[in-house]
Amino acid sequence: MGSRPVPWWRPIASARTLFGVAITAALSDVPAVNFLSFIEAKRDGRILSAAELREIVGGFTRGQVPDYQMAAFLMAVFFRGLSGEETAALTLAMRDSGEVLVFPEDERPLVDKHSTGGVGDKVSLPLAPLLAGLGFRVPMISGRGLGITGGTLDKLDSIPGFKTILAPARISEVVRDIGCVICGQTDHMVPADKGLYALRDVTGTVPSIPLIVASILSKKLAESLNALILDVKFGGAAFMSTRGQARELARAMVRLGNECGTATRALLTDMNTPLGEAAGNWLEVKESVRCLENRGPEDLCQLVLACAAHLLCLTRRAPDYPTARRQAETCLKSGTPLRKWEEMLAAQGADLVAYRRKLAVDTQAPEIREVLAPGPGYIAGCDARVLGEVIRDLGGGRLTKDMCINHDVGVDQLAKPGAAVQTGSLMARVHAATAAAADQAAVRIQRAFAVAPEPPPAAELIVEVIDS
Ligand code: URA
Repeated sequence: MGSRPVPWWRPIASARTLFGVAITAALSDVPAVNFLSFIEAKRDGRILSAAELREIVGGFTRGQVPDYQMAAFLMAVFFRGLSGEETAALTLAMRDSGEVLVFPEDERPLVDKHSTGGVGDKVSLPLAPLLAGLGFRVPMISGRGLGITGGTLDKLDSIPGFKTILAPARISEVVRDIGCVICGQTDHMVPADKGLYALRDVTGTVPSIPLIVASILSKKLAESLNALILDVKFGGAAFMSTRGQARELARAMVRLGNECGTATRALLTDMNTPLGEAAGNWLEVKESVRCLENRGPEDLCQLVLACAAHLLCLTRRAPDYPTARRQAETCLKSGTPLRKWEEMLAAQGADLVAYRRKLAVDTQAPEIREVLAPGPGYIAGCDARVLGEVIRDLGGGRLTKDMCINHDVGVDQLAKPGAAVQTGSLMARVHAATAAAADQAAVRIQRAFAVAPEPPPAAELIVEVIDS
C-alpha cells in the first residue's frame, strides 16, 4: 500500500461545488453512478472493496453524486464504521482525488506535524523553522480555525504581507530554498475532503473515527512525507474529550500512516489548560517568536522540542530519543530556527520591517484589561474551553467559515497551573477591540481560573507516545 505520488500538476477530472447549481449541470453530462447500492451496502454492514470506495470518492469529486446521497452514505459509515482496509482505501482514494505534491530527490527528509487543535496551540509556527534548521524539508499545509480552536493560517495572516495561498510550484521552491513553508491547501489538493468535510459538518457525521482518519491522513499523505508526528489532544478544549478516544484516534492514524509508507508516531497531549501563556492570533505569533528566541514559555518549548525529537527518531537521524532531544535543543539555542523563520516569512511575502515594528509594540488592541487573582493560593487550572470561547467572542475566532476575524484580540500573560498568587496578582491580560468587550472577557476569564490553597499535582503535558 505504498504511497504513489502523481506529479503536482496533474489536473482533477472536474471540480464540484457543494449544494450548488454547478453539480446539477454536471450531473446532466456525466454517466450516473449507481450510488444507491453503496448506501444500501454500508447501511447493511457490508465491507466495501477498494475499487468500490474509489468509485464512491471519484464519483463524488466529479460531481456525479448528489449531496443527499453522499450524506446518507456518510451517516451509514457513522453508524456501521469502516474496517481498517476500508479506511485505508478511502484515505488513498481521497488523497488521489486531486494533486499530490511531489518534491525532487534530496537528502533532506520530508516531514510534518498535524495537531487535532486546541487553545493556544501555536506549535507549528516555531516547529517548522526548527525542523528546517535540523536539516528537514517541511511542506506544512495548514488550515484555518473554526469555533474555539485556533488555525495556523489565521495566526500567520496577522503578519503584514504574509501570503498563505501559494501555487504548488512556489511551495516546492520555498521548501527547496528555505527548508520550510506554511501555507493553505491548494484548490486542487484533496478536493474530495473539501466536499466531504463540508457535508459532514452539516450532517452530524464529523465525530466518526474512520472519517476523521481518512480526512486528516489523505491531506498529509498528499504532501509525500517520509515522516509525520501527530499531536492528538484530549480534554475540555479538544476535539476528543477523553484520553481513551484520543488514543483510539491516534492508534488508527499511526497504523494507517505507517502502512502507507509514512513513518508515523503520535503524542497524546493534555488540552484542559491552554498551551503557553498567550492565545489569540497575533499574540500567538509573538509567543512563537519568543519560543524561537529560546525564551519560553516552558510548555510550548517542551512540546515543540518533543515533536522535533520524535521526527529525528522516525527518520533515523538520531539513535535514540534523549540524543534527538538534545539535538533539537542545541539547534533551537543556535538561533538558526529564528533565522529560518524570518527567511520563510520573507519568501512568503512578509514585510519584515512592518513585522518587526509590530513585534516591538506591546499590543495592537485598543483596550487592555488585567485579570487579577481574587485571593491567595496556587493556580489549580485555567479552563481552556472557556478561554477559547472568550477569544472567539472577542472576535478572534469564527462561528461560521465565512466570518472575518480580528487578529489583534486575545489573552496573554496567562498564569500557569502551580503558580503561587496573592490577592491582586496578575493572572492574565485581555486584549480587546472595545471597553465593553474587554470588561466582559475579564470577568469570564477570572472565573475560568481555579485558585486552590495547595499547589496542584504536577500534570504531564505529553501523557503517552503511540508508536503502533
Ligand atoms: N480535522 C480534519 O482535517 N478532518 C476531520 O475530520 C477532523 C479534524
